[in-house]
Amino acid sequence: MARPPQILSDEELAALTDAIKNRYGIDFTNYEKRSLKRGFVRLMNKNHIDSLLELWSKILKESDFFKSCIDDLTVNLTELFRNPEIWDEVGSLLTQFKHKTSINVWHAGCATGEEVYSMAMVAHNKGLLYKLKSLATDISSKAISKAKEGYYANELLPKYEKSLKKYLPNGEIKDMFDFEDGKAYIKKKFRVADFKIHNLVSDKMTRKFDIIFCRNVLIYFDEVLKLQVLESLVNALNDDGYLVLGYYDMLPESSKDLISQYNTDTRIYVPLRSLKQVI
Ligand SMILES: C[S@@+](CC[C@H](N)C(=O)[O-])C[C@H]1O[C@@H](n2cnc3c(N)ncnc32)[C@H](O)[C@@H]1O
Repeated sequence: MARPPQILSDEELAALTDAIKNRYGIDFTNYEKRSLKRGFVRLMNKNHIDSLLELWSKILKESDFFKSCIDDLTVNLTELFRNPEIWDEVGSLLTQFKHKTSINVWHAGCATGEEVYSMAMVAHNKGLLYKLKSLATDISSKAISKAKEGYYANELLPKYEKSLKKYLPNGEIKDMFDFEDGKAYIKKKFRVADFKIHNLVSDKMTRKFDIIFCRNVLIYFDEVLKLQVLESLVNALNDDGYLVLGYYDMLPESSKDLISQYNTDTRIYVPLRSLKQVI
């Protein structure tokens, strides 16, 4: 039996991304090539597709198949209190906005929602949960459904509790979850976010936010796309707002005209236009 190719050339990758862009308007052309190539190979292995031609034709003909492909082309890895050391600082940012009637937070590229629920826990801990207005978005419909569901496998809980305790030493997993039929569900009070499908590359954002998280998403984009997406994130920030990136989100050189590091330990940035106003 033929084996799917284990590696794609740049030309083969371009043929696939061009076809997807023309057929569905979803633009993967400026995604970082190596991780996207791995994604297509993963997709072929999983679906027992032996040739690029077969994959190309299936993607173009079957829109439901393509929708499910998005999850293999993107990486939805996330966890509760990911990088536990940042959450203390995030709590201090939240308190800076406590005078406002609502604190608007956008989780861009929220994957399966763990970051969103971590933020709700931090806001609860600061007595500000009632002010938190969160929008959580991702390109992957599967990830968004899972995030909305707020159900996480029991096997993940020991690891999640360890991270929670690094933020809140007395915190316990039962503070965040209810248990039903052996399954763990995020407690109702933490389900305050509005989850939506949104493509950071092509969809507009008309709202403004006090804090935007976009952690471990830019890592999948090339330099051109990183800058384009950074510009749209900065446009969606209030002048006194904060942008929280991930540790591995390397920034293009030209981003230094857009944002400045607020905190070097935790990759938190402020929009440069706010500093220019002070000067
Ligand atoms: C590694 S996860 C990061 C999740 C979370 N922010 C964290 O740091 O734990 C990257 C997420 O970015 C999403 N993503 C990739 N391209 C996107 C795009 N163009 N628009 C919106 N989300 C995108 C993926 O679907 C995936 O869920």
